Amino acid sequence: MKQQNAKALQELFQTYLENLSYAREPMGLYKPVEYVLGIGGKRIRPTLMLLAYNLFKEDVHAVLSQAMALETYHNFTLLHDDLMDKADRRRGKPTVHKQWDENAAILSGDAMVMLSYQFMMKDCPAMYVRPVMEVFSQTALEICEGQQWDMEFERRQDVTAGEYMEMIRLKTSVLLAGALKIGAILGGASEADAQKLYDLGIRIGLAFQLQDDYLDVYGDPKVFGKNIGGDILCNKKTFMLITAFERAGEETKAELQGWMTAEQYDPARKIEAVTAIYNKEKIGDICLAKIEDYYKEGMGLLEEVGVASEYKRHLSDFIQGWMHRKL
Ligand code: IPE
Ligand code: IPE
Ligand code: MG
Ligand code: MG
Ligand code: MG
Repeated sequence: MKQQNAKALQELFQTYLENLSYAREPMGLYKPVEYVLGIGGKRIRPTLMLLAYNLFKEDVHAVLSQAMALETYHNFTLLHDDLMDKADRRRGKPTVHKQWDENAAILSGDAMVMLSYQFMMKDCPAMYVRPVMEVFSQTALEICEGQQWDMEFERRQDVTAGEYMEMIRLKTSVLLAGALKIGAILGGASEADAQKLYDLGIRIGLAFQLQDDYLDVYGDPKVFGKNIGGDILCNKKTFMLITAFERAGEETKAELQGWMTAEQYDPARKIEAVTAIYNKEKIGDICLAKIEDYYKEGMGLLEEVGVASEYKRHLSDFIQGWMHRKL
């Protein structure tokens, strides 16, 4: 069986995406769709799906539309997420609500959900429509649940690390896991293998979101493409913030608490002060160790997928390539 590496699949997907046209009326609805899909992105969800499919079947061209569904859905979540997180930059460019306005982010986002369902249905073999749509719809709903917890946690001071992990499982992991599972289903995998791939997607998704939170503090904005410190300004209850509260002495805790409840402040000073506390408490290193643990756990689960190990190399290389990501 012919297998392609992640880079080849990513390029195949990118070509497919670039050949789609959004030159439709009303332009105010479709321009932001074209914009967000055109300004980059790592395309990890479609690539994961294609890699999972390619463990079982060769003709990856047959499922590019389903890969597009995942990327379109992901990009929809970004439009609404940036509105909810008051984020001005993404992928090194202004976010849709900055480039246009809030209504554009809402309605073009809504349209992208519908488009993603159309892509998922398009040329999907009849026998797989139901199982694929079940995974997709459940995943989409869980992301909303995760995003709701994320928002509610901003206003709470008693969020535990366990609650945070469950929140990121919902807002981020399930889409990576769902991408792998959908690829497996379309590839005709056994239920057990599809579930193993899902479970591994959950682990690497947790690592991926922990890294995203880490990069939100310690990333290079030119590489990361998003403004640094956004999570600090929103009082996001990240693993780093929760751990800082757990480890800090009374004085530092009071200082951190002061920044959480402050209403009038210079944003740059708040970011600097909270980051200084993270540095002092070595929160970054604790976070990096946790990230590594989840990646290792995920890679362990890949070994249990019932296909020859040489077939799994491309998926394994792809995931390992994220371990020290800066973007
Ligand atoms: C951003 O996802 C949202 C998170 C789940 C952290 P990505 O980091 O995959 O963003 P793009 O698509 O590459 O821009
Ligand atoms: C990502 O969370 C979750 C979703 C977009 C569903 P973040 O809010 O951390 O993602 P970024 O940092 O804005 O990409
Ligand atoms: Mg965000
Ligand atoms: Mg968010
Ligand atoms: Mg983030």
